Amino acid sequence: MYIWFTVLAGLAILSFSFLKTLFPYFDADCAYILRSLKLGARLVKYKKNKPFYSILDCFLDAARRHPTKTFVHFEGREVSYGEVDKQSSKVARALQAAVQLKEGDTVAMFLPNEPSFIWTWLGLAKLGCVAALLNFNIRSKSLLHCFSCCGAKVIISSAELLDAVEEVLPTLRERGIRVYLLSESCGIQGIDSLSDQIAQASDQPLSPDLRANVNIRSTALYIYTSGTTGLPKAAVVSHERVWAASFIQAACGITAEDIFYINLPLYHSAGFLIGMAGAIERGMTIILRRKFSASQFWDDCRKYNVTVMQYIGETMRYLCNTPKKDNDKSHKVKIAIGNGVRTDIWTEFLNRFGDIQVRELYAATEGNIGFINYTSKIGAVGRVNFIQRFFFPHALIKFDIEKEEPIRNSEGLCITAATGETGLLVGKITQRSPFIGYAGNQQQTEKKRLRNVFKKGDLYFNTGDLLLFDHENFVYFQDRVGDTFRWKGENVATSEVADILTMAQCISEANVYGVKVEGHEGRIGMAAVTLQDGEEFDCSDVYKQVVNYLPAYARPRFIRIQACLELTGTFKMKKVKLVEEGFDPAHIEDRLYFLDAEDKTYVPLTEDIYAAIASRQIKL
Ligand SMILES: *[C@@H]1O[C@H](CO)[C@@H](O)[C@H](O)[C@H]1NC(C)=O
Ligand SMILES: *[C@@H]1O[C@H](CO)[C@@H](O)[C@H](O)[C@H]1NC(C)=O
Repeated sequence: MYIWFTVLAGLAILSFSFLKTLFPYFDADCAYILRSLKLGARLVKYKKNKPFYSILDCFLDAARRHPTKTFVHFEGREVSYGEVDKQSSKVARALQAAVQLKEGDTVAMFLPNEPSFIWTWLGLAKLGCVAALLNFNIRSKSLLHCFSCCGAKVIISSAELLDAVEEVLPTLRERGIRVYLLSESCGIQGIDSLSDQIAQASDQPLSPDLRANVNIRSTALYIYTSGTTGLPKAAVVSHERVWAASFIQAACGITAEDIFYINLPLYHSAGFLIGMAGAIERGMTIILRRKFSASQFWDDCRKYNVTVMQYIGETMRYLCNTPKKDNDKSHKVKIAIGNGVRTDIWTEFLNRFGDIQVRELYAATEGNIGFINYTSKIGAVGRVNFIQRFFFPHALIKFDIEKEEPIRNSEGLCITAATGETGLLVGKITQRSPFIGYAGNQQQTEKKRLRNVFKKGDLYFNTGDLLLFDHENFVYFQDRVGDTFRWKGENVATSEVADILTMAQCISEANVYGVKVEGHEGRIGMAAVTLQDGEEFDCSDVYKQVVNYLPAYARPRFIRIQACLELTGTFKMKKVKLVEEGFDPAHIEDRLYFLDAEDKTYVPLTEDIYAAIASRQIKL
């Protein structure tokens, strides 16, 4: 018996090493698949639990298990799990008393990256409410749009965003929206301060009966994404999706002893779901920053013993651009989770800051398919494996960039892209991988659905992203389709920018796109515009318009004046050629303007300015 056992074990080891030479990523694949299966099993258990076990319940358990453990470090303050629990109960009670919030109501949170963001959300969760996470950079029309599409009757903001709230206050009041500020007092009629009520409220736990009907399919959050067209869209994030995203840390092998550094905004999935919710799932400590700072980054990591960092492509470039220091490698960071880093920067980052495991991942807030890099392949966003293929069917299909649509064969079906060929990623919509869509936007939701892909009548989620699978099954992100580009880590919806530009007196039509700038990640905003009859380009008026209505990352830094805009056969504006032509005045005959942030106006783009941008004397 014993002998047989040894023989079997020997065989197993032999076949394992054999497999490993044949398939060099075999053990990484196995470890990852095992972890994923375990996490999948947990999700199934939570689904069956009655009452449903949510991320809030997970937080409450953590607060019970280790009430004195630090949950958040923020600007020199530490707040423990127990304190966050109590604070969130106070918020919940204050809100309950002020507006009689009840299960299922939606509340918009328009708050900066502070611990109050976390306990306000937890407070809302305790009442069974849905939180809409508004981007704190948006203003006026965009802000109103985002607020309206989630159907909230209440908005909670803070003193530092008061100007933005005041700007839209008349409209909010017209619609009977209750506006609260997390501050002691507020002299403005129509805005109520909430801090006194919170301070006076009891910190006793709230009854779970308040959220008895919440289940895994209920909406937990609205997170805004800049889609391919129009204003931001509110992606409906169910409790199931919250769980799935919060498991990403666990899937990367992160434990409760790790320290997680969040310098991304909490209103995005990366910071909120992967970072904060993931930290709750692990029961770990987070270091929260108001905003990313390259110069403070490693000092923070050293000071707080950070072991896991989060990044977007730009983060790594900014870190690599800081002056070299002797202590660059002295820190405890061992894992970096994020997405969008380019291969050259990735390599430079590792050379400079030491042996950090980069866990590059690909996922969309509203999408139904994602990848994660769990091996050690530079540049890849993940690997295709059979388990994932089985549970979450997906494919890359051939795509026509100019027409911006999938290529179809004579039967009207899509064609799978070859290995090593760039294609559009589509994920089959199933019970297990649903696509819930966008709040109050049936049209946009429908646009993301792709039918008749491989069979008549089948249904896929169109990610709008172009990827590539190589012969070793590694997955590489290539580009985003068409109407959105990324700058400084934010998605910019071109039509939203065009809407704002055409509100300027002198501009008739605008075609907005992103252009590459040497030495920068992503694309910077540029617009080709036509002028109203008899009008001249009004530099200061357009500047005012752009600055008043668009966050800094979305402002077109270059404007190109054209006599008419080129349209495609389907009356879409042609962008590909414009994008290629860029903004070099030596090669473009049209008049060009540059948004001069110092002079606070647009100025003619001269060859001197062009040279200064190229040599980085002018910072973009
Ligand atoms: C970081 O680790 C060191 C050594 O283990 C410890 O002395 C220090 O207190 C830790 N710092 C924090 C902020 O936890
Ligand atoms: C994944 O992480 C490893 C370890 O840090 C890194 O070196 C590698 O380049 C990444 N591989 C993939 C598949 O993205």
